[in-house]
Amino acid sequence: MDRIRIRGGNRLTGTIPISGAKNAALPLMIVSLLTPGTLTLSNVPRLADVRLLQRILQNHGIDITVAGKRVGQHPMMGDVMHLSAKDIVDTTAPYDLVSKMRASFWVLGPLLARCGEAKVSLPGGCAIGTRPVDMHLMAMEKLGADIAIENGYVLASAKKGLKGAHIVFDKVSVGATHAALMAAVLADGDTIIENAASEPEIGDVAECLVKMGAKIEGIHTATLKVKGVTSLRGCEHSVIPDRIETGTYAMCVGMTGGDVLLKDANASHLGAVIDVMQRAGVSVEIKNDGIRIHRNGAALEPVRVDTEPFPGFPTDCQAQLMAMMTMASGTSIIRETIFENRFMHVQELARLGSDIHLHGDTAEVRGVKKLTGAPVMATDLRASVSLVIAGLAAEGETMINRVYHLDRGFETLEDKLQACGADVSRISG
Ligand code: EPZ
Repeated sequence: MDRIRIRGGNRLTGTIPISGAKNAALPLMIVSLLTPGTLTLSNVPRLADVRLLQRILQNHGIDITVAGKRVGQHPMMGDVMHLSAKDIVDTTAPYDLVSKMRASFWVLGPLLARCGEAKVSLPGGCAIGTRPVDMHLMAMEKLGADIAIENGYVLASAKKGLKGAHIVFDKVSVGATHAALMAAVLADGDTIIENAASEPEIGDVAECLVKMGAKIEGIHTATLKVKGVTSLRGCEHSVIPDRIETGTYAMCVGMTGGDVLLKDANASHLGAVIDVMQRAGVSVEIKNDGIRIHRNGAALEPVRVDTEPFPGFPTDCQAQLMAMMTMASGTSIIRETIFENRFMHVQELARLGSDIHLHGDTAEVRGVKKLTGAPVMATDLRASVSLVIAGLAAEGETMINRVYHLDRGFETLEDKLQACGADVSRISG
């Protein structure tokens, strides 16, 4: 298994290109189930999760080709992807695939809408919490599907097709919003989705659906109004830049000091992150071609932050912020309100010498003068990258194990950091 070795202490200077957003690319790929036409996606990140979803979609009968391959990478990794679901040959998403990646559960809505049936494995828990799917199922039932759960599978059917409905979520859920939207676009009649998640990735999917012929109002808001259509066509769509990758590299620079342009980053998706960075004393400059992050030698100021649905501070940047705050000049308070168990990085950060105390959903992060390198491992993607951030500032060598978590969501992380002067290398095997 690959490992990443970091020798900390270097400031970061230069340019980091921001890749397409993983959490937009995955649902956009799933959207291809809704049309017999060809969906062409560009700015697709070359990630392990994208590859896994290709396998899941291929199992349903989708033909996938890619362009933009790179020497040494898997032949199905490319930044342009053509997906064609002319015929759906299998409406089952099996356990061995769905259990590897939760987002694959989102095929439920499109399969139901297009084929009138779906059998999708329940995804199970994961390292960041129990993560139920009750709201997904409620939305499908509202749209007229019959749902049963048998042997760990959701059996859904709507033999006469889905019907428009009024769906009110009692909690903001990105996945349930995707599911409801993807099913409603082909339902008969009007659907209103209230308390919808308004994350930029949902807006990106909605804009792609509109290009395909869907009728959606209220895009980028918490109320989506959908007029069902009988069919959708293929289209071309470019994936938005990854706001979580952007926030992560911004925090790398905040941690080490330096001056880096995050090229192609979209500041309008990052208001809460930029606000926190500025409160911490990091300079953030919005440019035409991205976001410039700059910090000189001054100490970081402690911050108080709650994670929230968009436009609040994203849970997917919480671990990274915590890593950055381990060396602030005082005590930061970070409250995780989205997932109940997203503090798995705390014990690993402690191995590097941080001083963090957990009180229920709240972490009290007491800034320390220095971190020291150590072997560490993590149980999820964002936790892993928080260890990279800490390792960049730690004295000596930090060895990060279980790098496959990083490969799920960060394209060529070590190359991007090396190019800005970090001493980071991948050790294969
Ligand atoms: C998406 O997960 C993202 N995944 C996550 O990113 C992200 O952390 C999360 O949204 C929150 O922003 C992708 O986009 C692929 P939710 P999702 O449904 O949709 C509860 C990463 O690191 N809930 O918005 O699964 C749930 O337990 C990943 O890239 C229910 O109670 O998250 C949580 O407390 C990890 N019932 C809250 O809602 C449901 O039916 C929000 O979860 C569904 C969710």
